[in-house]
Amino acid sequence: MFDAIDHVGIAVSDLEAAVALHRDVLGMVLVHRETLAEQGVRAALLDVGDSHVELLEPLDGDGAVARFLARRGPGLHHVAYRVADIEAALASLSAAGTRLIDARPRDGIRGSRVAFLHPSATGGVLTELVQPSDHH
Ligand code: CO
Repeated sequence: MFDAIDHVGIAVSDLEAAVALHRDVLGMVLVHRETLAEQGVRAALLDVGDSHVELLEPLDGDGAVARFLARRGPGLHHVAYRVADIEAALASLSAAGTRLIDARPRDGIRGSRVAFLHPSATGGVLTELVQPSDHH
């Protein structure tokens, strides 16, 4: 069902400092920036081979990433797996009784379609499915 690890999502309190760390110290290439108002974050994507690191800074005190930061501080937030057909993957997981946060895909970064599984169903790891846009 999963084709690759698409990205790991990292919650940060200072996006520019996190970009500088990953680009200038860790040597990753910054390939995309986007504000995802629905998720309440500013995001940056950096390439790691065919996968990415997704840095997420809350826009304000609301939203899941802001709550995560307040509770646990900066760090690993979620793992995202790439799928070719997100509707089929969600249907299969739902049929297997997997608890979903998103029953239907929503708009994700860079034109992708995404859906989150509930961490209680995935060993405590917030898990995202990503169907990339046709352009990426
Ligand atoms: Co993500």
